[in-house]
Amino acid sequence: MTRPVIPIPKTPSPPFPLLVKRAPIIAGFGRGSSAIGCPTANIPIEALSEADKLDTGVYFGWCKIHPVDTQKDVHQRQDGTQVEFKYGDGLRKEVDINTVLPMVMSLGWNPFFKNKEKAAEIHVIHKFPETFYGAELTFNILGYIRPELDYTSVESLIKDIGIDIEVAKDSLATEGYQSYKEQVHNVK
Ligand SMILES: Cc1cc2nc3c(=O)[nH]c(=O)nc-3n(C[C@H](O)[C@H](O)[C@H](O)COP(=O)(O)O)c2cc1C
Repeated sequence: MTRPVIPIPKTPSPPFPLLVKRAPIIAGFGRGSSAIGCPTANIPIEALSEADKLDTGVYFGWCKIHPVDTQKDVHQRQDGTQVEFKYGDGLRKEVDINTVLPMVMSLGWNPFFKNKEKAAEIHVIHKFPETFYGAELTFNILGYIRPELDYTSVESLIKDIGIDIEVAKDSLATEGYQSYKEQVHNVK
């Protein structure tokens, strides 16, 4: 399968930018870290508001994590395995939180894993010392990279996600996208 090349405009063009404020981070299937080495923050589709109507595919933008002040607890994934919700505890000020970070978002059915429900998953392009299930995520969606694809091997999915991350980083480094950091920064 050939990866489509979609030109990224110099500045976000409609319907972008789309801003999503303080969406909760829920537990996905947990394959993001284990099977593909790319951890993702799963966002309930209802939290996306207008972004819910977007075509499935891969998007990019800026994001910020808001810790939630509550006790840690344990939740169950759909497959019965347990996951600890730390709500952002242990994240470092100005490094992991109180700072705007680049992200790529996969919106869709994850055909490779044959999901039955549509999912929004955000990979924050940053190294975190802890997981942050239960925290909240503010993000803006600024552009579209490619449609969702089905893959014959996990290696080709991993390779394409690597390219998505490079495309997102390159675009966000340009003037036309840097200025949109502020929009996320300003959400309290
Ligand atoms: C940038 C990015 C692009 C992705 N592209 C695809 C894709 O084209 N096709 C697909 O089946 N899954 C795609 N995925 C979704 C992965 O399959 C997904 O992250 C994985 O199923 C982990 O999900 P989990 O957190 O629910 O376990 C993508 C994920 C990311 C972060």
